[in-house]
Amino acid sequence: MDRRGVPSGAPERMDNAMNKIRVGIINVTGYAGVELARILWQHPDVELVSVTGRSAAGKKLGEVFPHLACTGLTITAELEGRVDIVFSAMAHKASAEGIVPLLNKGIRVVDMSADFRLREAAWYPQWYDFDHPAPELLKKAVYGLPELHRDRIKKTELVANPGCYPTSAILGLAPLVKLGLVEPDVIVDSKSGTSGAGRTLTLPTHFAEASDNVRPYGLGGHRHLPEMSQELEALDPQKTVSVTFVPHVVPMTRGIVSTCYAKAKASKLTGGKEELDKIYYDFYRDEPFTRVMQQCPETKHTLGSNLCLLYPVIHQKTGRVVVVSCIDNLVKGAAGQAVQNMNIMFGFPETAGLEALPIYP
Ligand SMILES: NC(=O)c1ccc[n+]([C@@H]2O[C@H](COP(=O)([O-])OP(=O)(O)OC[C@H]3O[C@@H](n4cnc5c(N)ncnc54)[C@H](OP(=O)(O)O)[C@@H]3O)[C@@H](O)[C@H]2O)c1
Repeated sequence: MDRRGVPSGAPERMDNAMNKIRVGIINVTGYAGVELARILWQHPDVELVSVTGRSAAGKKLGEVFPHLACTGLTITAELEGRVDIVFSAMAHKASAEGIVPLLNKGIRVVDMSADFRLREAAWYPQWYDFDHPAPELLKKAVYGLPELHRDRIKKTELVANPGCYPTSAILGLAPLVKLGLVEPDVIVDSKSGTSGAGRTLTLPTHFAEASDNVRPYGLGGHRHLPEMSQELEALDPQKTVSVTFVPHVVPMTRGIVSTCYAKAKASKLTGGKEELDKIYYDFYRDEPFTRVMQQCPETKHTLGSNLCLLYPVIHQKTGRVVVVSCIDNLVKGAAGQAVQNMNIMFGFPETAGLEALPIYP
């Protein structure tokens, strides 16, 4: 024991457990949930106390995910013990149903599903095939993209953590749309690794289907489209921006690259790449994770990190602006951004637990 009563050799994280907030994860058994556990376990201000999952209830977390054996946690069917904040990593609909009782008990929530991202209850039957069980909460929930909504995130009890594709697309296009620099007709072409589809087994994510293959999908309207439109429209001074979005699944595990296209308005952006770079640098000047790059980023430059890497260019002949936006779908596109939101809600340094550099190659 040292003089503070901590066993010698015990990790530093035990030392100030009294000052840490107590955190629970609903559904640690999916990719978003298990990535949350990895990040939260290393967070200096957090004690991860409870993790749930129907399919593995009663098992040690390390039995299901050996890379997390060090946690010693047991997966339970329901949350256990007192918690200050809960992350829900459940599928849509089930997430809203699970969250409402927690909010009623005064527990803060970051929801990773889409259940509180859309402002209109009528959009849920249209895009997600269910009637929203708590439409009154849609106005209270804050869309958790810190680059746009930091002040509101600070004060809310319920964060709707953005989708992975929308995170990359909105951050890529926000400066152009907010400053009214482009025509209100933008295109987002995204490529995602297969972990974006979750750990639940499906035919398109089988190795034989997904390897050596690029699969466009959602051409009739992907579920992330209303979310992108909602947020970009709110930024647009004219409120008229329309989005065409085509996602593709590519044979890799993690990562999203969204290549975004927009046409400069007449007499705008005549200063070329230099002007465009300055606009993006100024817009994201104080952001800890969204960076404007000097060379075109690739998904591999973000893996395991909470970074969003942006690279805007303009084709002078056509007036077409192209912005490349790369993230790790499980970190800035899910668990990392959720922890960034928690940091803001609790007044922790925004980068706490998220300082890890990307892994390479
Ligand atoms: N994957 C990504 O890149 C990503 C990015 C952003 C947001 N998200 C969102 O995060 C959430 C989880 O995604 P994921 O990729 O982690 O999915 P996943 O790997 O398929 O895991 C979802 C887990 O939810 C549980 N589940 C499914 N249906 C349920 C129900 N009706 N009631 C209770 N539990 C249920 C299942 O665990 P048990 O059977 O063990 O209970 C399943 O393992 C989703 O809402 C997704 O949209 C995912």
